[in-house]
Amino acid sequence: MKYAVISDIHGNYPALKAVLQDAENQEISHFIFAGDYCISGPWPDECIAEIRSIKEKHVIRGNEEKYLENLIGKDQSLWTDGQMQISYWCYKNISSDHLDYLLGLPHKDEFESNGITIHVAHSSMDFLGTYPFYTWNSVTVAERNRQPYSDPGAILADMKKEMDQDSSFKEAVDKLERGIYIFGHSHVQSSYMDRDKGIYLINPGSCGLPLDGIRGNVPYTILEISDEGQVSIEEKRVPFDKERYINEVMLTSQFKEANIWSRVIFREQITALEHMYFFLAFVEQYSKDIGDFRRPYCLETWERAFELWDQKLEDQKLK
Ligand SMILES: [Fe+2]
Repeated sequence: MKYAVISDIHGNYPALKAVLQDAENQEISHFIFAGDYCISGPWPDECIAEIRSIKEKHVIRGNEEKYLENLIGKDQSLWTDGQMQISYWCYKNISSDHLDYLLGLPHKDEFESNGITIHVAHSSMDFLGTYPFYTWNSVTVAERNRQPYSDPGAILADMKKEMDQDSSFKEAVDKLERGIYIFGHSHVQSSYMDRDKGIYLINPGSCGLPLDGIRGNVPYTILEISDEGQVSIEEKRVPFDKERYINEVMLTSQFKEANIWSRVIFREQITALEHMYFFLAFVEQYSKDIGDFRRPYCLETWERAFELWDQKLEDQKLK
């Protein structure tokens, strides 16, 4: 049995289409989706319709779905802040049928394939506890390296070192029962195999918003289980034109109504590195500095902070 494992699409329909086409070229007809279908990219409806049209699939919820769930029944006249614009836009634009579908998805899934148990959840925390969540995470690795906007490849090298050498990672893995564990959330593609113990970890990375420093393509992972139960894992990268994607996003209402969020995401798309986390830290500091303690951040503070942050990055580039 051959599966395409896909996660963290985040409303990036062209990326989803590219990955599905690649999977089709490999004659894959079974799919596993590990959560986060919307927010950040402007095509949530298209993504969900595409997923729903697939016959053989396992689909679970991610954390972004919760942001939409939290908005149900709220007074929209109060939605005037800057920070939440992206969630408001998505909530207002997603069809109610698709929203119901998303919110009806399970948080976890477990099924058998050729005698092997496959577990699916959005976060590695569900299987491995807090330790690997914090290390298998682009933000933490980037922060630790103290070079968040440079050195593509450092994230993967750092992760590989931890998987090979860190005893607490090994301890967490040793607690697992035999099987395949699939999760997303960190937006960093990775996999781990211990054939002797029969334990396999798969994070297919983010199809719609990769943050592993690898530019110009989007990831998914092929999982194959032979009739005899032999497991093979292939990490795929599919060419994807991010400049073109950004130009398309700029024509959407999301770009107008959640402009700052969209532009921070553009920087993530181009560099394939975390920026939102650093921007949010910048806004927090800026708002404290000017004595604005409203949360979520008001539109004026949100926009002014972005101007300063964006200029800072441009200045750094010039040096
Ligand atoms: Fe995500």
